[in-house]
Amino acid sequence: MQLTTMVSYENMQGVAVVTVDNPPVNALSQGVRQGLLEGVNKALADDAVQAIVIHCAGRTFIAGADITEFASGPAEPSLRDMLELMDGAGKPVIAAIHGTALGGGLETALCCHYRVAAPGARLGLPEVKLGLLPGAGGTQRLPRVVGVEKALQMVTSGVPIGAVEALEAGLVDEIVEGDLLPGALAFGHQIVARGAALPRIRDRDDRLQEAREDPAVFEQFRRSIARKSRGFIAPEYNIRCIEAAVSQPFDEGMKTEARLFTELMRSPQAAAQQYFFFAERQAARIPDIPRDTPELPIARVGVIGAGTMGGGIAMNMVNVGIPVTLVETSQEALERGLGVIRGNYDNTARKGRLSEADVVQRMGLINGSLQLQELAQCDLVIEAVFENMEVKKDIFRRLDAIVKPGAILASNTSALDLNEIASATARPESVIGLHFFSPANVMKLLEVVRGDATAREVIKTCMGFARRIDKVPVLVGVCHGFVGNRILFARQTQAQQLALEGAPPHQVDRVLYEFGFPMGAFQMSDLAGLDIGWNAETSRGETIRDRLCEAGRRGQKTGAGYYDYDENRKPTPAPLVAELYTEFAARAGIIQRDIADQEILERCLLPMINEGAKILEEGIAIRASDIDVVYVYGYGWPVYRGGPMYYANSLGLDTVLARLRHYWQQSGDDFWRPSRLLVELAEKGGRFS
Ligand code: 3HC
Repeated sequence: MQLTTMVSYENMQGVAVVTVDNPPVNALSQGVRQGLLEGVNKALADDAVQAIVIHCAGRTFIAGADITEFASGPAEPSLRDMLELMDGAGKPVIAAIHGTALGGGLETALCCHYRVAAPGARLGLPEVKLGLLPGAGGTQRLPRVVGVEKALQMVTSGVPIGAVEALEAGLVDEIVEGDLLPGALAFGHQIVARGAALPRIRDRDDRLQEAREDPAVFEQFRRSIARKSRGFIAPEYNIRCIEAAVSQPFDEGMKTEARLFTELMRSPQAAAQQYFFFAERQAARIPDIPRDTPELPIARVGVIGAGTMGGGIAMNMVNVGIPVTLVETSQEALERGLGVIRGNYDNTARKGRLSEADVVQRMGLINGSLQLQELAQCDLVIEAVFENMEVKKDIFRRLDAIVKPGAILASNTSALDLNEIASATARPESVIGLHFFSPANVMKLLEVVRGDATAREVIKTCMGFARRIDKVPVLVGVCHGFVGNRILFARQTQAQQLALEGAPPHQVDRVLYEFGFPMGAFQMSDLAGLDIGWNAETSRGETIRDRLCEAGRRGQKTGAGYYDYDENRKPTPAPLVAELYTEFAARAGIIQRDIADQEILERCLLPMINEGAKILEEGIAIRASDIDVVYVYGYGWPVYRGGPMYYANSLGLDTVLARLRHYWQQSGDDFWRPSRLLVELAEKGGRFS
């Protein structure tokens, strides 16, 4: 029988099966909480029922609280009330888990007496990724089951564990091979037949003992995640809750958890991270490409260029079992490229994250070649040679003659005109940009660049393919630098200008680092290499970059760039660089001065926002949140600040506009001219949406 629109109830040979059916992920919406409450009550009141199984329809167990309900506040019954009933039930309650049991979903399972799981199930508490902590007892129950250390890892990383690991950790009682529901019913019958106890996790204490005797475990853990969690507040709140589980009685710990949850819920970080959760999913939607647009099959990929970029791109494919033909122009370059890939895998294997057999298997999927001809049967070819239009056009002209009809021809260009590249072929509809970010095997972002003629199926295929290789794709249009680099150019221009006016590179970098970027503008240039796009033959010492490159200071790889580096790549400010800025400033008639941190921050970030607004105005990005996804996944914008466009909204667009006008007036430089869209929105009190 149907209890609510989202929950049904059935007595199956003495076991009540309460089934949640709230697609797509069975989130704990009000109707689910209500239905579960009624289902458990009904089963408890029925003498013909001896056990209760909580089970979900569709692709997953409960994946958490319904995030869309957070804004409107809690509606009755609360999750905590519903779980309390389950936890105190006088009949065995069994969670039957498939797919993912996440957040409130795992907390529901933790309030059952037993948990059985399908082999592919994953269990976790990912609230930290939303700037939150598990607010329905998760921080108090999980350490009582899996121990303090594992609980700390799970709540601060948010990464779920698989069924086998969960079984080993005691988080599930049995893995059910075959159909889950019959397995869970059989488990229920056994429990009843054995007259087994009704274990409540809240009563357990054994796994907390170790941490009670050695509270230093918390400080050690804090140190171990300090770098990763810098700037975020939620990881620390999660740790405090686990500390409470160890130091306080259960009911007190629950109160601490509730208090800290409420504090986090009101924090700007949680708002930004929740916004970003939906922004990322929104980016997958392309207004003029219907969901049912067919995708082209991609079974074999070609990559041209085995340099840092090409090699990293190839690794993405073989990591998910897709064979790659990697083409270079000389045996030496090919071997060097393959050697780097092998070295990367060996490093991962040394850290224990890959077996030797995996390394062999992955390398076996790469076929190195010196012949473009060998790409003939590839479904997708990605060109990753250096940024030169003529070279790229020549490659595409040749590919057009070689590669089978219908195959996708992609360029990894980071700034060049994709339409011009496509014009070298007779099939511009099959040409697309796939802009990977360095290191390409690590960075999550993929800018998918849509040319004027790119076919819808090609776009749909590439957006789907990106997810297959574990990337987050964002569709952008053609302009110099696309979305990411175009905005970055604006920031770099100001960073250089600030250094000329007297703010040394290390001050500019410190301000950006303190804002939350993993590194500043100058450190980033040093890491990328100052000689990207620099030409030794034509260089005439006209810019600071020319002078640095001419002096052999080409970034970290040469031990010097904007900074001096020691053998551990630790940077120190370089006196020579300071002198160069003074010299160039004098030549330009600039009187250097001390510049306050706030001015540096504004002058670095406001141009990014303004450029983002121009990008929207020109239709290069579909929506403001896509720009934020590009910035968080491609450039290290701190997710707890949402992204540049979200940040602009949080500052208030009127403030952004006023500050842009201030710098425009002060400098007389049209660089600061506010975008039309920004002016329009700011003047009517609007926001980027
Ligand atoms: N609430 C509301 N909607 C949700 C949701 C949730 N918890 N989780 C996912 N959705 C929505 C997505 O927005 C998406 O909607 P769309 O199709 O309209 O874009 C749809 O469900 C499918 O989601 P995905 O595209 O992410 O599907 P995947 O199959 O790739 O991933 C998933 C499924 C692993 C469950 C993933 O959606 C996920 O990680 N969800 C979030 C899980 C989470 O954070 N849970 C904790 C919530 S907070 C909580 O529980 C507080 C508690 O402690 C009190």
